[in-house]
Amino acid sequence: MIFYFSGTGNSLYIAKDIATKQKEEILSISKEMNLNKDVYEYTLKDNEKIVFIFPIYAWAPPKIVLDFINKLKINNYKENYLCSIATCGENIGNAMDLLSKKLKEKELNLNSGFSLVMPNNYMIAGDVFSKEESIKIIKASDIVLEDINKIISNKEKNILKVAKGPMPQFMTSVINPCFNKFAINSKKFYVNDNCIGCKICEKVCNTKCITVDKVPSWGENCTQCLACINYCPKRAIEFGKNTYKKGRYTNPYIDIEEMNI
Ligand SMILES: Cc1cc2nc3c(=O)[nH]c(=O)nc-3n(C[C@H](O)[C@H](O)[C@H](O)COP(=O)(O)O)c2cc1C
Ligand code: SF4
Ligand code: SF4
Repeated sequence: MIFYFSGTGNSLYIAKDIATKQKEEILSISKEMNLNKDVYEYTLKDNEKIVFIFPIYAWAPPKIVLDFINKLKINNYKENYLCSIATCGENIGNAMDLLSKKLKEKELNLNSGFSLVMPNNYMIAGDVFSKEESIKIIKASDIVLEDINKIISNKEKNILKVAKGPMPQFMTSVINPCFNKFAINSKKFYVNDNCIGCKICEKVCNTKCITVDKVPSWGENCTQCLACINYCPKRAIEFGKNTYKKGRYTNPYIDIEEMNI
């Protein structure tokens, strides 16, 4: 069972590859979470593998992924092989340790963890890469992904192949909670005159917090996945003053229809 979350297609790209090679079912965490259930219950087949795949947000898994795990109930778990892949622009801090702790609360054991560098989609600080550079990064990730698939096929345990970056403990346990509290905020999104009311932003929004009535308006519950700003075909969405001159990124191998969750 492959559980994935993705804002701009990178993590879905990885999840699709893992699901195909491991012959496992693929499930969108945001699609599930939009059902607003108190408990998300799944029954494993014997020997079924579990893989969590998501982007890193400020050196931790996205809050929506951790909230999903809080509500998770897995039946027929007999120490099934469980691993996780975090896609990132650079590094992930202690995100895997945090994930492992969350899973333990559900009596699930994280057997192995990986980080995978993919094109950065966070243009609010820094910028995205050119299309050519992004494709190069994805091609490089394909090679790492082959290795990860082999490890998963062999159910290898205690493998931790992650780029933690500097001060991982501080980034994950101090900076991340501050980011969640202060930086995740839909109030800074606004639309300019280029908007044609196509509703793409509404469709790709992972938490369904955008409503388009001629132009979009943003409600509560944003996860900062940046799907809206990156998928807008008219470059009509900005976030504060930080995004005027910045590029936009969406994974070139994922069709927008696949993001219509
Ligand atoms: C809100 C936010 C925070 C991010 N924080 C980090 C980070 O701490 N470290 C990092 O390497 N990349 C970071 N990134 C980049 C993404 O993790 C990376 O581009 C990821 O592959 C995007 O996956 P997706 O296309 O599935 O959404 C961040 C992106 C966003 C939107
Ligand atoms: S995706 Fe862009 S153009 Fe389309 S409705 Fe949203 S803001 Fe307007
Ligand atoms: S409003 Fe934009 S950034 Fe926030 S969850 Fe929806 S698509 Fe993602």
